[in-house]
Amino acid sequence: MSARGLLLQGGLVAGAGAVARADVLVVDGVIAEVGLDIDIPQGTTVLDTTGCVVGPGLVDLHTHLREPGNEESETIESASRAAALGGYTAIVAMPNTEPPCDSASVVADVLARARTASCEVAVAGAITVGREGRALAPMAEMAALGVTLFTDDGACVHDGDVMRRALEYAKGLSVTCAQHCEDPAIAAGGVMHEGMWSSMLGLPGQPTLAETAIVARDLGLVQLTGAPLHFLHLSAPESVRLVAAARGRGLPVTCEAAPHHLTLDDSECVRYDPRFRVNPPLRPTALVKELIELLRAGAIDAVATDHAPHASERKDVPFDEASPGMLGLQHALGLTVAALGGTEPGDVLALFGLLSRRPAAIARLREADERRAGHSAQGGDLAVGEVANLCVVDLDAPMVVTDQSIASRSKNSPYVGRTLPVTVRHTLLRGVPTVLDATAVR
Ligand code: DOR
Repeated sequence: MSARGLLLQGGLVAGAGAVARADVLVVDGVIAEVGLDIDIPQGTTVLDTTGCVVGPGLVDLHTHLREPGNEESETIESASRAAALGGYTAIVAMPNTEPPCDSASVVADVLARARTASCEVAVAGAITVGREGRALAPMAEMAALGVTLFTDDGACVHDGDVMRRALEYAKGLSVTCAQHCEDPAIAAGGVMHEGMWSSMLGLPGQPTLAETAIVARDLGLVQLTGAPLHFLHLSAPESVRLVAAARGRGLPVTCEAAPHHLTLDDSECVRYDPRFRVNPPLRPTALVKELIELLRAGAIDAVATDHAPHASERKDVPFDEASPGMLGLQHALGLTVAALGGTEPGDVLALFGLLSRRPAAIARLREADERRAGHSAQGGDLAVGEVANLCVVDLDAPMVVTDQSIASRSKNSPYVGRTLPVTVRHTLLRGVPTVLDATAVR
């Protein structure tokens, strides 16, 4: 389908602050008109969006691409196709590849490989060399390539002095650090949440304190340095409350939660099914409910997938030997709708805030655009003149997750066999469909 003219006709548009019935005309990759009774230019392709919401393409702050180094688990091509099917037009790739993204050359390599992907790919650089938590990585070199987010995700920067230097350095470069909050001494090799279920199953557990202890320490470091910090995949309500209180005091902090921490609890581990092993671990029902309340109350800035594909040889093994992580990109939107629990206009705006507008702002994708040509506007308001990165979702079209429908190379989704409440109908990247009628088209 050519990028020349496309009309999204009949849907509700989730714009800057309102949801309203409107059509969207896209010409040459840019939103040319939003409204009713649009004059349709000759040669325009019409996409029926009746019953659907048209919103900004989703932006994932937390994707594990596995390329380079673990292409048997996932490639940039397969991950970006899964992302497009999930409604995403941009993803931020975590640096725990092999080799890790801890230098300008690896960042440049990933960006080059991603040029033909089905969504835009931004790269998060490592904070420390080899993600080993000791020497700072050459952040300035990576920032010069447009990297705006730095993290050792998969590992915590647990040395407080190293984290302090990273924050000071990042502040000078106008980039943001992101922390994987896990005190290794307190987590002590726990493979699930420490509680009733870990005792019953005889599996080593880790308490929420492994997470909250690092959150509390790092909030102190933000106070000390004045540098912004984003907290990745928070699973404990207490962690979120600490971040929200600090934000209330004016500290430049943000946090995300993952769909699985909002929809699954630690009782799922009862069958020792390795698909439910993830880090941070699934928490007890009472904590999941509190996390959902915090999401609804606006205490959580973004929902980010922590999409973590693992090939079967790493997952079809005993629970405590399996690699932690689960797929996320294709189903995050439906899971977030389930967690938010409504599809009223206010819920729809909250949804696109959590999955598109806030993540784009946290990853500073617009600043990345200015630093490096090639990226286009993400998390937009659907205003005339914006690049048309769009997601069209039917909020009332349940779909069943099946192995066959998973676009990732790995199949480690805990949701296979479950029904999700929504279907992503179309995704447009720079005005060109990557998904049409819930089918990937490139
Ligand atoms: O469960 C997880 N898997 N948590 C992480 O932080 C890393 C991720 C991975 O890379 O597999």
